[in-house]
Amino acid sequence: MIFADYGGVGQALAENLRSHGHSCCLIYPGEVDQSLPGGLGTINPADPNHFKRLFQEILGNNPLPCHGVIHLWSLETEQSEALTPSSLEESHVLSCGSVLHLVQGLVQALVNTGSSTLPKLWLVTSGSQAVEANPAPVALAQASLWGMGRVIGLEHSEIWGGLLDLDPSISDNSDNSDNSDHKGATQQAMALFSEIWHGDGEDHVAFRQGKRYVARLVSSKPTQTESLTLQADGIYLITGGLGSLGLQVARWMVEQGAKNLVLLGRRELPPSDQWASLPQDSESWKRVNAVQELKAMGAKVIVAQADVSNQDEMSEVFEHLRNTQIPLKGVIHAAGIENYQEIQGMDLNVFQATLQPKVMGAWLLHQLTQEMNLDFFVCFSSIASLWGCQGKADYAAANAFLNAIAHHRQALGLPALSINWAPWSGSAMVSEQVKTLLKRIGVDPWQPEEAITILPYLLGSNSPQLIAAKFNSDVFKKKLSKS
Ligand SMILES: NC(=O)c1ccc[n+]([C@@H]2O[C@H](COP(=O)([O-])OP(=O)(O)OC[C@H]3O[C@@H](n4cnc5c(N)ncnc54)[C@H](OP(=O)(O)O)[C@@H]3O)[C@@H](O)[C@H]2O)c1
Repeated sequence: MIFADYGGVGQALAENLRSHGHSCCLIYPGEVDQSLPGGLGTINPADPNHFKRLFQEILGNNPLPCHGVIHLWSLETEQSEALTPSSLEESHVLSCGSVLHLVQGLVQALVNTGSSTLPKLWLVTSGSQAVEANPAPVALAQASLWGMGRVIGLEHSEIWGGLLDLDPSISDNSDNSDNSDHKGATQQAMALFSEIWHGDGEDHVAFRQGKRYVARLVSSKPTQTESLTLQADGIYLITGGLGSLGLQVARWMVEQGAKNLVLLGRRELPPSDQWASLPQDSESWKRVNAVQELKAMGAKVIVAQADVSNQDEMSEVFEHLRNTQIPLKGVIHAAGIENYQEIQGMDLNVFQATLQPKVMGAWLLHQLTQEMNLDFFVCFSSIASLWGCQGKADYAAANAFLNAIAHHRQALGLPALSINWAPWSGSAMVSEQVKTLLKRIGVDPWQPEEAITILPYLLGSNSPQLIAAKFNSDVFKKKLSKS
């Protein structure tokens, strides 16, 4: 089953497969659920029922066993340079949303039909991964799927094939003649065919300039390349600034000399005439207290009430920032939400809600700060986006976008860093269940005061992406080599 692109890669792959005696059906993204002659059809990426019907029919009524499901719809998403808020959202429905429904429909149909053959699922993107030493812009709208894919590999290892990132320069080099497009698609299809049928078990593969790359974690000692100074006459924006990590970073920044902070979140602080009567230890009391503490340390603090994923609200915040006449010198993007839900029970709306603050938020911040002379643009991402985390397909996808936008920005010559944090102790975002799971693979949670001490190294580095985790390397390596 090939969830095909309109650019011809899926079609070329089908021709290749048929020439080897296989049978294929090609399903294209469309509005309606429609079967067409010749094993073709369309379904709507946003409609889970279309996927259920399709898989039930193919797996239930077809005498041939289904060996592979190849998803190429991400190739139809919008190019990074043309993205708008609505096309970014639509692209995520086409890429991650359709894969959510695909996995749900496929797994359910396998159970219903009692199929003894388990097909392998391959997710294909193009240019979504930063691969080579020379930074290149990244296909942002496709990048989240890699975070989600890693969770599919954990929750449904029985159907997991892998993630394959095609060489974007192959289509870029085409001279737009039909013949050249066809040649490009054939070349891409050949790379896919050999990976799917003659692969060596690697499940994170990228193709660039005729070479095949696989993913590896590389350990590095923290080396501070530049000493970071925070400027008293600059302003610093922390999204999620009144959250657990946001406040700890805010305190650290003031200790390092920052005098002007904007802490951004959706919730307002209560009016100041109510502060004295707030119940002690209530959520509002804690937030008010934290702001007062920062002010007592000598900082001017603006609490900006805005949804980081709302373009109008964020434009208003930046208008306000411009009016302060103090230059914005750094952004920490720490806004985020998470929930625990396995893919089988997840609704697309819930999935999208988790993406919003990280995906749309980071993209709006990227747009709104492009002309500014920032010293840093740091995204608080998570290790969940690197090797997955059961029950967090949406969160892993959201954080994979942060990794991608950091690489993308650096390729454009803009400051950027995505920090893949391991959990911090004491944070509400990290459940006991996650901590236990991580301990089992050899990752210890950070004590906040310890995590803060490595911030200067992280912020002073010129790498676009760093993992900040405490590994018990013996346990970790053993676990990874077993999986
Ligand atoms: N805690 C950890 O151990 C850990 C580990 C790895 C990565 N991280 C990442 O680090 C960041 C901070 O984590 P945390 O533990 O500090 O979480 P947290 O305490 O829940 O804080 C997150 C903050 O984000 C704000 N927020 C959520 N959605 C928003 C939106 N649409 N617009 C504006 N603000 C929004 C929330 O404030 P409102 O509700 O008022 O909007 C909240 O204060 C997160 O992005 C998380 O993914 C954390």
